[in-house]
Order: sequence, then C-alpha cells, then structure tokens
Amino acid sequence: MIIPLAHRANQAQEYYFSIKLAEVRKLVAAGHDVINIGIGNPDMMPSNTTLETLAQTAQQPGAHGYQSYKGIPALRQAIAHFYSHTYGVTLDSETEIMPLIGSKEGITHLSLTFLNEGDEVLVPELGYPAYRAVSQMVGANVVEYSLQEHQGWQPDWQQMADLLTDRTRLVWLNYPHMPTGAPATRELFESAVRFAHDHSVLLCHDNPYSLILNKKAPISLLSVDGANEVAVELNSMSKSHNMAGWRVGWMAAAKPYVDAVLTIKSNVDSGMFLAIQQAAATALHNTDAWHAERNAVYQGRLEAAYAFLDALDCAYARDQEGLFLWAKLPDHIPSAEGLVDDLLYNKHVFIAPGLIFGPKGNRYIRVSLCMPKERIEQATKRILT
Ligand SMILES: Cc1ncc(COP(=O)(O)O)c(C=O)c1O
Repeated sequence: MIIPLAHRANQAQEYYFSIKLAEVRKLVAAGHDVINIGIGNPDMMPSNTTLETLAQTAQQPGAHGYQSYKGIPALRQAIAHFYSHTYGVTLDSETEIMPLIGSKEGITHLSLTFLNEGDEVLVPELGYPAYRAVSQMVGANVVEYSLQEHQGWQPDWQQMADLLTDRTRLVWLNYPHMPTGAPATRELFESAVRFAHDHSVLLCHDNPYSLILNKKAPISLLSVDGANEVAVELNSMSKSHNMAGWRVGWMAAAKPYVDAVLTIKSNVDSGMFLAIQQAAATALHNTDAWHAERNAVYQGRLEAAYAFLDALDCAYARDQEGLFLWAKLPDHIPSAEGLVDDLLYNKHVFIAPGLIFGPKGNRYIRVSLCMPKERIEQATKRILT
C-alpha cells in the first residue's frame, strides 16, 4: 500500500543535481575518476580564523543548546558590518537582518510569506531553479520574463510591464546573474526599484555572487534609493566565503519584511548551531586580501575553462562574473543533455546542461570553476582524446 501524496509532491520534480549527482556517485563507487565541473561547490577552504572560531566555540559547554530564531547579535552585527564595508549599505542589525540556513531556504520563506495561491510571480526565463519550483509549490503561477543575450541578459522593463496583472506580487532578480554571468549594474538596479514602486510588486533580489570575479565594486540592490520599501535581498556565504556546506545566508530588508518572514520561519526551524554562527561572524570580517586571493585562484582557472569550452567548439563571453562560465553549443552538437550524458558516461566529466535553468538554456552548457586548474585541464584532455 502507498499512502497518497499531496498534489505538490506529485507536481514537484526532484532537483536536477540531486538526481545527477547520484549518478556521479554511482560512477565514482564503480571506481571511475569523475571530474565534476557541473556544480558550484567551492573547493577552497574558509579562512583559518573562521575554522578556529568554529572549533573554539564548539568546545564550550554552553554552545550546544537551541539558539534564538533570529540569530545571535554577533552574527547580525557582522552581517551589518559586511553590508556597510562591501556595499556601503547601512542595516540595523537588530531589525533589518534575518540569518538563514543558506539563502536557498530564504526563497521558500519569502514565497510562503508573500504569495497566496493563484498569485503571479515573475521569474527570469533563465535562473536558479528554486525560484520557479518553490513558487509552484506554494500554488503561485510562474510567469517567465525574457532575458536576451543582446540586452546583456537583463530584463526589458517595458516587456516586464506587459506581463503584469492584478495578481502579480513578486519579481525574482539575480545579478551577477546565474547562469549567464551577466554583471549587476547600478542602472539595472535603479530600473528595478523604479519598476517595483510603479507597479507595487516586491523585488526579491538574490545576491550570492557579487564578490566572485566581479570586475567592478560589488553592488547591493539595497543601495538604491527607495529600495527598502519594495525590495528584499538574499545573500549567502556559500560562494563568497567558501562555506557552502555550512548553510549560512541571510535576508536583508526593512523591519516589516524581516518580521513577517520571521513569523513564518520560526515555525519551520529552531535556529542555527552557535559555533556556526560565531564562525560565520568571524568569516564576515575576512580581509579584502583574503577575498582577492580567492578570486585570483578562480581567475587562474579561467584560461583552463576557456580551453575546455574551445575544445567543445562552444561560444562564450569573457566578461562573465560569478563561479561559472555559460556557453553556447555549436550547431553540430545536437543537444546539451545528450552532450552532458556523453561526457559523463564516456569521458567521466560532469558539466551542467543549460536546460535546467529554463527552456531557453536548451542550447547552452554551464561549466563551474570549482575545480583545480589541473583537473579542468585533465577534463579538456579527456574530451580531445
Ligand atoms: C543564484 C543562486 N541563488 C541561491 C543559491 C543558494 O545558495 P545557498 O547555498 O546560500 O543556499 C545558489 C546556489 O547555487 C545560486 O546559484
């Protein structure tokens, strides 16, 4: 006998990487040396001081109990310091910051907080799959907005306005953009905030890549005048601080938005381990030199990644930001998914097919920089032989 599932469990699809990485693990278990340049899982270490704080705090007898729902003051203060230092944005650490167990869960909390069944959500036609999946899970209708390469993969605000109805509540935005690597610009953020004011929709900006291979000073959407009335920003330590497995992110927004999300979230989890919070607070004080060193390593991997894409005859832009390279397939390769499986099973190299970021990604692939240069070079050798 099988007890019937809720509609949402039948509708939701298992996350692509959850399925594909199981296939990768099977190959590895069978003794194959798989080079995984498919996922954005940083391979470098957090800073030493971060690890020391984790270890020291974990030794304290009082460290192991439940923590407060809205994070310890030290973490919220460190986030406020990081926002001021990195983006020039002043946040009240008491009322405008909500630590999250990774920014991915923030997508769910925001959706639960702001969306009723039947509401409409504008989602980029290429983007992090969770925006779409979670909107559907809460019964909202996903309306895709177009991103065109010739427009720098940025929204066309006129076209966006045409998509609005009286049920549109929320717009997902993410710059530097994953997967295309399009950078954030002040003009883009100003247009977004103007749009949200004009049409009374909530802008949810997802900002995990602002410190990775950024060509200009990193920007927060919250630095735009008037943003805090209509926007919330998610941010994450996964990529910028090499702490993906730690699950630390946060939401920054005006007090009423933070309070509303806390009401939902406090019914879902019960805070984060103190040692993780203390260590994250330490990491948020990593020096600019630490961040520059991390970027220098990614920069050093770029040439190897370009050579990999050249070996596949792909076309790609060289000014991409973030942890990945987004590349277009040549006409002679019939399908990205076919290519991904061919490379996985015949060359033991894993890359991501563009389709998982939206149908528009059909003729694209995404390659991650989270592998040592030598391994990317080895992947190129494998596809050339
Ligand atoms: C655009 C984007 N948003 C959010 C996330 C989730 O990050 P976190 O590890 O903080 O949950 C990712 C992770 O890959 C991402 O690419």
